[in-house]
Amino acid sequence: MIRHFLRDDDLSPAEQATVLELAARMKADRFRYQPLTGPRSVAVLFDKQSLRTRTSFDVGIAELGGHPLIVDTQGTHFGRGETLADAARALSRYVAAIVLRTYGDDRIAELATGASVPVVNALTDGYHPCQLLADLLTVRERFGGTAGRTLAYVGDAANNMANSYLLAGATAGMHVRVAGPVGFSADPVVVARAAEIAVGTGGSVSVLTDPAEAVKGADVIATDTWTSMGQEDDGLDRITPFLPYQVNAELLAQAAPGAIVLHCLPAHRGEEITDEVLDGPQSAVFDQAENRLHAQKALLTFLIEATTLAPDAAAP
Ligand code: CP
Ligand code: NVA
Repeated sequence: MIRHFLRDDDLSPAEQATVLELAARMKADRFRYQPLTGPRSVAVLFDKQSLRTRTSFDVGIAELGGHPLIVDTQGTHFGRGETLADAARALSRYVAAIVLRTYGDDRIAELATGASVPVVNALTDGYHPCQLLADLLTVRERFGGTAGRTLAYVGDAANNMANSYLLAGATAGMHVRVAGPVGFSADPVVVARAAEIAVGTGGSVSVLTDPAEAVKGADVIATDTWTSMGQEDDGLDRITPFLPYQVNAELLAQAAPGAIVLHCLPAHRGEEITDEVLDGPQSAVFDQAENRLHAQKALLTFLIEATTLAPDAAAP
């Protein structure tokens, strides 16, 4: 069986915990684990811009003993008729895994249909599951675990980060509260799936519109840009409805004492988050950015080993 990571719930709660534990061990002993020595190569493809994802996969694959192939897809045949499934068939003959950042989730799903190696979602319009592994590793480091902790995500509740907080947070046994303005509220299908997962993990899911209610007593306050990649020209007012959702000192004061603040970055300072909070003592955002590296090294190791070691992997 080929193990892909297209959405946060492609890892079971036990598997997510395994990956986070491995990530913590890899962080503590950074150059010890080299499962890609050979080297085996990993292709990392970008239809959209990136700083952290690009560099953390590049560095992480090298640290695992592998060879990173970082590809901007404008230089490939993606835009001129080659199907993503055919591209995946070809790439699978060269590499141990394929990582893709793209627009629609249908695109990464199509890539996965042609792949005979693991496919990893490095951000789509729908989800950002690698980011969530880093966020959960950060929560684990700061609080000793994730289960039972309350996470409040405020801002654009209709975007990829909101969806991933719902699914991954529920998988981690957290109480996830999501609050956004009317017109930018959470996808009910994703909320229902997260609620289903939470039944088995002891977590919970709440959909709110009041940012203060969402943040009240929470351990983790998270936000994200109000304008995601690809939404720049969608004609919507992406400032006015969001202003009450800004993570500032006043909102943060409603959280639990000792609460931490997360932001996947890049931040739009003065919009979704103030300088005072981003640079303040409760901000964990640069630990969170570092943790992309460790979490993705663990994820790639888990997926490649799970695929290679699966009983049917050697079938002709
Ligand atoms: N957080 C994140 O994915 O950052 P980049 O867009 O810079 O990769
Ligand atoms: N929601 C943002 C996340 C960037 C890492 C976007 O998709 O642009």
